[in-house]
Amino acid sequence: MGRLDDKVAIITGGASGIGAGTTRRFVEEGARVLISDLDAEKGEALAAEMGDAAAFLQTDVSQEEQVAAMVAEATDRWGRLDCLFNNAGFGGALGPIAKTTVDDFDLTMDVLLKSVFLGLKHASPVMSAQGSGSIISNASVAGLRAGYGAHLYSVAKCAVIHLTKSVALELGEHNVRVNAICPGFVATPLATGRPSASEEQIQQIRDAEATNQLLGRVGEPADVANMALFLASDESQWITGQEFVVDGGMAAGRPWSMWPEFARMERPIRHHRPPGR
Ligand SMILES: NC(=O)c1ccc[n+]([C@@H]2O[C@H](COP(=O)([O-])OP(=O)(O)OC[C@H]3O[C@@H](n4cnc5c(N)ncnc54)[C@H](O)[C@@H]3O)[C@@H](O)[C@H]2O)c1
Repeated sequence: MGRLDDKVAIITGGASGIGAGTTRRFVEEGARVLISDLDAEKGEALAAEMGDAAAFLQTDVSQEEQVAAMVAEATDRWGRLDCLFNNAGFGGALGPIAKTTVDDFDLTMDVLLKSVFLGLKHASPVMSAQGSGSIISNASVAGLRAGYGAHLYSVAKCAVIHLTKSVALELGEHNVRVNAICPGFVATPLATGRPSASEEQIQQIRDAEATNQLLGRVGEPADVANMALFLASDESQWITGQEFVVDGGMAAGRPWSMWPEFARMERPIRHHRPPGR
């Protein structure tokens, strides 16, 4: 028996990286998945690989009518909607604040934040009427701490976390759960800075970044997919309004190995007791 048997999910950005890993994991566990992505070539190839369990719809998640059509496609095809994973994204505007244009700002917010608002807006009526559903949005460690992403990427992801909590408070009475995931550094095209990165280029960032990671390796799409699976399944049926950090310990602080003074210290601990104690 699969953990998502009889469930229907939409995964935005489902053609690549974390979204593709989650599509594979959800199908393995019995779900039917609508892969929604701008990239038709990768999306159609993955849907073909998944057989009857998946379909592809080319979607720009920053456009309201396309997000509405995406929700309608899943419900028309399979009769229900149990999970929406708002996962599509990109790196957004880079560079100094003084050089960032208003167009850069608008595009970054459209793809990273408006898309999540639109997903919540259009999936929630279907799920509320059903009396069940799980909406998961992919935020980032960059939404929790400054300095883990570019300015506007960080602020959009921070807003995704807060929108998650706010909407969870509204939808709880309909048994619709709303949660966010905050990944750390995951080996995908986005992390290389090139949307069409080759497997070789992804391997280069795996190798380069491994030593900066507490657990000795970067994240893989499957690490995040496993959290999404838990949040989509009935195992998390009493969990809503939360952000789940999946980052190999990155947000906990500096790795021990980067703090050589600590590593050199030996017992006995030297300290001065106050007089009389
Ligand atoms: N890779 C990381 O280190 C990392 C860390 C934290 C958070 N994230 C988040 O995870 C999510 C997935 O990223 P990934 O690393 O798998 O990247 P990826 O580049 O492998 O996949 C992103 C997918 O989103 C699609 N997409 C982009 N804009 C779109 C739009 N307007 N409409 C529909 N689809 C669109 C792309 O075509 C692509 O298939 C993103 O939201 C990203 O911000 C990634």
